[in-house]
Amino acid sequence: MSKVIPFNFGWKFKNGFLDDYKFKGIEKDCEVVDIPHTVKILQKNYFDEKDYQNIYTYCYEFGDIKLNQNQMAVLRFEGVANYCEVYFNGHLAGTHKGAYLPFEFDITSYLGKRNKLIVKVDASENPDIPPFGGVVDYLVYGGIYREVSLNIISKKHIKKVFISSDIHKGNLVFDILLSDLDGNLFININDKGNQYTKSIEIINNHIVEEINIPDYKLWDIDNPYLYDVEIKYVSSDGQEDIQNYKTGFREIKFTEKGFYLNGKKIKLLGLNRHQSYEGIGYAAPKRMQEADALFLKNFLGVNIVRTSHYPQSVHFLNKCDEIGLLVMEEIPGWQHIGNKDWQEISIRSVQEMIERDYNHPSIIIWGVRINESMDNDELYSKTNDLAHKLDQTRPTFGVRFIKKSHLLEDVYTYNDFTLRDGSIIIEKPKDVAPKNAPYMITEHNGHMFPTKKFDNSKRQTDFCLRHAKVINEFFKNDRISGCLGWCMSDYNTHKDFGSGDGICYHGVSDIYRRPKPVAYVYVSQYGKQPVLHISSDMHTGDYDAADIGDVYAFTNCDFVRVFKNNQFIKDFYPSNSPFKNMPHPPILIDDFIGELIEKNEKFSKKDANKIKELLIAFSKNSFNLSIVQKLKMFILMKKYKLTMQDATNLYGKYIGNWGQQLTQYRFEGYIDGKCVIKVIKGKVYKPVLKVEFDSKTLAETHSYDMTGVYITLTDENGNVLPYANNVVTVITDEKLSVIGNNQKALSGGTTGFYLKTKGVGGQSKIKIKVSDCQEYEDIITIDVSKSYRNI
Ligand code: GAL
Repeated sequence: MSKVIPFNFGWKFKNGFLDDYKFKGIEKDCEVVDIPHTVKILQKNYFDEKDYQNIYTYCYEFGDIKLNQNQMAVLRFEGVANYCEVYFNGHLAGTHKGAYLPFEFDITSYLGKRNKLIVKVDASENPDIPPFGGVVDYLVYGGIYREVSLNIISKKHIKKVFISSDIHKGNLVFDILLSDLDGNLFININDKGNQYTKSIEIINNHIVEEINIPDYKLWDIDNPYLYDVEIKYVSSDGQEDIQNYKTGFREIKFTEKGFYLNGKKIKLLGLNRHQSYEGIGYAAPKRMQEADALFLKNFLGVNIVRTSHYPQSVHFLNKCDEIGLLVMEEIPGWQHIGNKDWQEISIRSVQEMIERDYNHPSIIIWGVRINESMDNDELYSKTNDLAHKLDQTRPTFGVRFIKKSHLLEDVYTYNDFTLRDGSIIIEKPKDVAPKNAPYMITEHNGHMFPTKKFDNSKRQTDFCLRHAKVINEFFKNDRISGCLGWCMSDYNTHKDFGSGDGICYHGVSDIYRRPKPVAYVYVSQYGKQPVLHISSDMHTGDYDAADIGDVYAFTNCDFVRVFKNNQFIKDFYPSNSPFKNMPHPPILIDDFIGELIEKNEKFSKKDANKIKELLIAFSKNSFNLSIVQKLKMFILMKKYKLTMQDATNLYGKYIGNWGQQLTQYRFEGYIDGKCVIKVIKGKVYKPVLKVEFDSKTLAETHSYDMTGVYITLTDENGNVLPYANNVVTVITDEKLSVIGNNQKALSGGTTGFYLKTKGVGGQSKIKIKVSDCQEYEDIITIDVSKSYRNI
């Protein structure tokens, strides 16, 4: 019987390493830490990236582990950055290069009554290990940042399991490798109580078996139906190994006419995700990994994510399986290709990635090329051949920024940063990829238009429109299977990139995954709930020359009705949109006067319209009006005996909104004739505190639990106040610790803190103080009854 013993609580940790530690461990000057762990909590920005690039020691001690003669003990690390040496009871158990894939060491013969596990972690950027050797636009934070376990397994055991499906025959296909040629194998598929079983007498230790499921259900993005699979191996001398999986029926096809899931064409709209978080870097436990998958699928409404630029946590991938979020997964790297040894690690990464993740139905394609690297046929023939040999059910991709590069993969995947000020938005696939090759855009925007959550409405609107432009072209073109924006959230990076403060502000959300306005370009496309987001905050004074310009509604409503100070202005429809190919074109709102001049003033209908046009022209061009416009103005002023003051008053009243008691805009979204959502924009009288959690019920199990708490100031109508920079203090009791500093200023109206459990169960009180604002209190419930902390 296999048994997994989590080793995630109570490690000793210190900066530095001495040879002596290999045998003695560390006692003095160390902290006690839990895994996932980052070697250094970085401040949000303006940090020194060298601060964490040192050598560290981790030490874990445990007592007697009883094994019978048929059992072995295997240490498993899910991810250690970047290089490590593992010493067990004074012996070198093994070493590992690379931050993103798991590794195991058999320590059976070294086990004693008292056991000491020492891990020397080298967090420096060793040029011999991918992605290092050149520059890299992201940080690889050091530490034992994914879980560790001791696996007690039978000597006769299951070595590998690959499960796929044949949707035409209704079969689940098993490809299983056993350690021994002996005994029986039992496969049990559980479909919510219905069991399908097969027992196989072992005459070959490589078993390929198909099991038919009558009336099977497909796994797809709307209904990601999963089957539970148990595989049990029993040898003739009674040794047992059991492994559990979840799997689904699905078929994927990339063609030159697009992507098909189970025979149905789907336009893949998505984003790239980095696995980093503010302060904690990569060390985010299960809940936080899952939260990102939920954010992408349930909030942003995208149907695909690229794990740029490395294999990510299995917790993230499991959640993607569960919620139907498609995944493109790729090997670690960024532009640079190192020497032969370096390349060997890349080739090995292909194998380790596919072997770790083959059984995730959400993964639809393997990335077997270093992101944005130059052609290297020798290397990439190997990575492609290996991927194809290991997995005949999935195609390969390799992300490029070069056109017409030699395509060894199945899909040409291109980072298209074409969009500048001109009219060319994206490249034509035929100018980039070989004829008939399936084609995807794997990144766009990003560094071309970094936008901070505290940038003004004009820049936010431009940012939105840039994403909308590319997405619109994508929907127009049948050849393009998918289009993924750069990127899900802002991220910390090296000094060579970003805004000088160690952050790339390329995200559709900030570093805490709080949405920027551009997020709603995505939310409004495939999102299931009614959405209405207005691109402007409608404060004229925040615009150059007080010209708000065109405003857009990102919405899935049929039309948007606009009111100013409770007076109806006009209905606006998607037919008005410059982005008509999108499932829900952003609606252009280019008139905030409507018929108000005609209604409120003493002009004829025709003249009221002329005056409106002139006021709008003036707001855009000031006195630089055309001769015709100047003439019209002169005639109208004469006809109605208007002085310059009268004209200025009209401008102030209808465009500038000067001196009015209240200027309030109400936007109403209608679906099937009913108003389903409202947005109100106007003066802010009193900031309102909004506090969000990933979860208010936490549970420690294999590892500690964590939630983010996100503090935002909004106006009374729920609009985020992007220039609020109040100071927030979070106070917790003995049951939760705040990671890093418990005091931060709002930035872009928001800030966040990560709260970690400490093995104490019950109700934890949390208090949030915001300067010049009200206080907030809440309760977080913590369950430690299933915690492995004290076992
Ligand atoms: C791409 C690169 C990404 C990121 C992005 C910024 O070239 O693949 O990792 O750096 O640029 O726009």
